[in-house]
Amino acid sequence: MKIVRSIGGARRAIAQWHTRGESVGLVPTMGALHQGHSSLIRRCRKRAKRTVVSIFVNPTQFSPEEDYKSYPRTWRRDIALCREEGAEIVFAPDVGTMYPDGFETTVRVGSLGDYWEGTSRPGHFDGVATVVLKLFEIIRPDVAVFGQKDYQQTIIIRRLIEDFNLPVGLIVAPTVREPGGLALSSRNVYLGAAERVAAGAISRSLRWAADRIRKGARSSSELARQIRRIVETGGFFTIDYIGFCDPSTLASQRRLNPPVVILIAAKCLAKSAACGRRYIDNIVVR
Ligand code: PAJ
Repeated sequence: MKIVRSIGGARRAIAQWHTRGESVGLVPTMGALHQGHSSLIRRCRKRAKRTVVSIFVNPTQFSPEEDYKSYPRTWRRDIALCREEGAEIVFAPDVGTMYPDGFETTVRVGSLGDYWEGTSRPGHFDGVATVVLKLFEIIRPDVAVFGQKDYQQTIIIRRLIEDFNLPVGLIVAPTVREPGGLALSSRNVYLGAAERVAAGAISRSLRWAADRIRKGARSSSELARQIRRIVETGGFFTIDYIGFCDPSTLASQRRLNPPVVILIAAKCLAKSAACGRRYIDNIVVR
């Protein structure tokens, strides 16, 4: 496995594969890798001959009050994980390589980026779309793998690919979870034992609501009330938002008409390192 830090280096390594007609897959990450990321790498290796993992904590997708500086950085473990999973290249540029002096041009995501995650993180998806477009241009992957855990992100990347006619196949991989149901996330390290158990209620509430919808429930407001009750009982978490949306457009559904995706974000209230941090999850009901 090669670690490549420069854009020229990445292009040269990948050009050889393209000339030989070998397909290239990209798994974009911000490091602090866990089993969720491993599953994306495995998925990528099934779909492409060569797998590139990018590790870049992208400053432009963090708002000023967010945790860019304190975002977990676990370089040695990340590299070990990529090697174990069989990635061929880790592309790990520094900030000056991706955003050199004079950098000016960014992608502006339309209304899709303004609500749900976009409400509490203004400009977040512009930063995501900009860096992903750059990564696509540098690596020129045939396929790119993203996790369903960041559902809105996958919809925005799908639009980015369509809007800019990018020749990239989007693969969305299922969410990997802890035994208690909590979606794996780099931010889970901030949760103490009790909060972690309480956080299981987030996915439990989604599974419960999905089951109700399958059995005919149609009132989103009634289900939202119940989800809030399930998640907030215990006092560790408070709901930031619950959305009932069309799975491909993210248009809100008041009266439910499956297929529907339920999007949820909950904030941790515990007086610990997790206080104020947000945990997101989703479920699709067909
Ligand atoms: P990051 O949070 O590092 O996530 C990288 C990829 O891993 C994303 O596609 C995310 O959805 C996926 N992922 C995270 N947790 C997962 C889980 N529990 N199960 C399955 N997949 C999971 O998302 C980003 O980085 C950035 O926004 C990025 C796309 C790299 C652009 O900077």
